[in-house]
Amino acid sequence: MREKNPRDNVLVPIEKQVWPLSENDYWSTPFAKMLLHHLELFSGASVLDIASGHGTPAFHIAEQVGPNGQVLGLDLHPGQVLRCKTAQGPHLPWLSFAQADMRALPQDLGPFDRITGNIAFMFFRPNRFEALKQLTGFLKPGGQIVLTFPALGTFDSIWQRVDREMAARGLEKEQATLAEYIAERPSANEVRQWLTDLKMDRVEVDLWPLEIESGPGRAFLEHPLLRGGFLDDAYECFDNQTLANEVMDAVADDLKSFTPLLAQRCAFSAWRPEK
Ligand SMILES: C[S@@+](CC[C@H](N)C(=O)[O-])C[C@H]1O[C@@H](n2cnc3c(N)ncnc32)[C@H](O)[C@@H]1O
Repeated sequence: MREKNPRDNVLVPIEKQVWPLSENDYWSTPFAKMLLHHLELFSGASVLDIASGHGTPAFHIAEQVGPNGQVLGLDLHPGQVLRCKTAQGPHLPWLSFAQADMRALPQDLGPFDRITGNIAFMFFRPNRFEALKQLTGFLKPGGQIVLTFPALGTFDSIWQRVDREMAARGLEKEQATLAEYIAERPSANEVRQWLTDLKMDRVEVDLWPLEIESGPGRAFLEHPLLRGGFLDDAYECFDNQTLANEVMDAVADDLKSFTPLLAQRCAFSAWRPEK
């Protein structure tokens, strides 16, 4: 049987949506838009949304699949699950949230028509291939998986500037640690190879750049996105945090030399073969 196509169904038009993607989220929403661009939804679909966080895009997808569908959002952190349940209240009763580790899901889960995960794939470590393999096992035959993540290349201009600052100060050990951190990030090519190795159908891997705005100095060092994850890797290269602060202060004061700050949004889509 041919997989249902979104064009076969009238989903909820934008002007009638109660649960659209937030227009104020400069990070999750641009990734989720890319995810939805690849996702072929239909009303009545069963969907597993991993790393559901604060519910992007689980709420939006639940509205789209409607009451004949089923959406399960899973997140490792109970606080995120609680936050989603609170936001949901009595709405969209075919949507549920639960706590689970997406790398080790219970075998009796699903199977699902669709698996989604926005800004999720980097958390598949340490064995990303195995985690991806397990996850695709929860798809129905003919089902689609679409995941997004910031790929290798994200904010490279920052890492190059930090590397130059380290080199100028003779910090070879810190330079080597930084290079290790960067190389550990998943790349679009790696993902394409893994999906091919898993013999998935219609593999698509896309990279779209996303510019993040920041001022210099403290604005850069305390930027909610950069400090909340990315810059930590640079600080962690140092045993001596006073030295780390000196290096990062010098980098932050030189923002103009490494702008624009570009993230590489990666989305991949693949289909489990019918047989
Ligand atoms: C960057 S947030 C993305 C959340 C949401 N999908 C969004 O687009 O805003 C990543 C989420 O992954 C969750 N997470 C990290 N490791 C996980 C794991 N092993 N299993 C399930 N969730 C995980 C975190 O708790 C966090 O809520």
